[in-house]
Amino acid sequence: MRRKLVVGNWKMNGSLQDNEALLVAVADGIGAAAAAGKPACDVAVCAPFPYLAQVRDFQARRAAAALFDIGAQDVSQHENGAFTGDVSAAMLRDFGVRYAIVGHSERRQHQAESDVNVALKVKRALAAGITPIVCVGESLREREAGMTEFIVKRQLSAVIHLNGPCVSEIAVAYEPVWAIGTGQTAMPQQAQAVHAALRAQLGAAIDRADRVRILYGGSMNAANAAELLAQPDIDGGLIGGAALKAPDFLKIIAAAACPKAA
Ligand code: 13P
Repeated sequence: MRRKLVVGNWKMNGSLQDNEALLVAVADGIGAAAAAGKPACDVAVCAPFPYLAQVRDFQARRAAAALFDIGAQDVSQHENGAFTGDVSAAMLRDFGVRYAIVGHSERRQHQAESDVNVALKVKRALAAGITPIVCVGESLREREAGMTEFIVKRQLSAVIHLNGPCVSEIAVAYEPVWAIGTGQTAMPQQAQAVHAALRAQLGAAIDRADRVRILYGGSMNAANAAELLAQPDIDGGLIGGAALKAPDFLKIIAAAACPKAA
């Protein structure tokens, strides 16, 4: 059985002051649940690059904060050198980063990241011992054209092609673009169908596809998380807006720790 993973993607939000309050509230909530003997799941927060040190220092100060991992929102496809503005996987490791989101649709759209860029970033992350969370997802136009599976499989196949059996070490996030930040969530069965297709694709390519966690992202919130997380191939969530509100994020974590039957 795969342990569920809930990841907060803060995107380009936060400040030293706001982050501190959010980290305290999340750490307190996770710590209280653990002290009460409640079931747990894996949790990570993906902060903007300048705040990774803040999250790491917070972890060092607060024992309970060790109950979540540190994530980044991107990683360079290059190892080091003259790549102004890029941040390497080795640098992320220096700050205790365990996960890196790769190929988020906002980067594919605004930074013109291609499937090949994403595959190269995955390679760099894996080489540094960081788990890449590879985002795939179709636009509304693509869904309406019946192209959902074709699109997500194309995005994932570039990663499989370049990384081979190491792909058993990644996590995948299915994030339908039309569901991100819109309040429009995929129906649990709709998401499950795509997750199952991705798992089948991984199964055809590598031996240990059953260990790869496939997260759902796109307007997951405190109200809809339990039903999504009850699906057999939904192994967690990649959470945007709701990860900035500690009570909502904690409710999603609790739903992941205790998945109810749909
Ligand atoms: P929202 O949860 O705000 O829809 O964002 C999802 C997302 O893009 C997480 O990476």
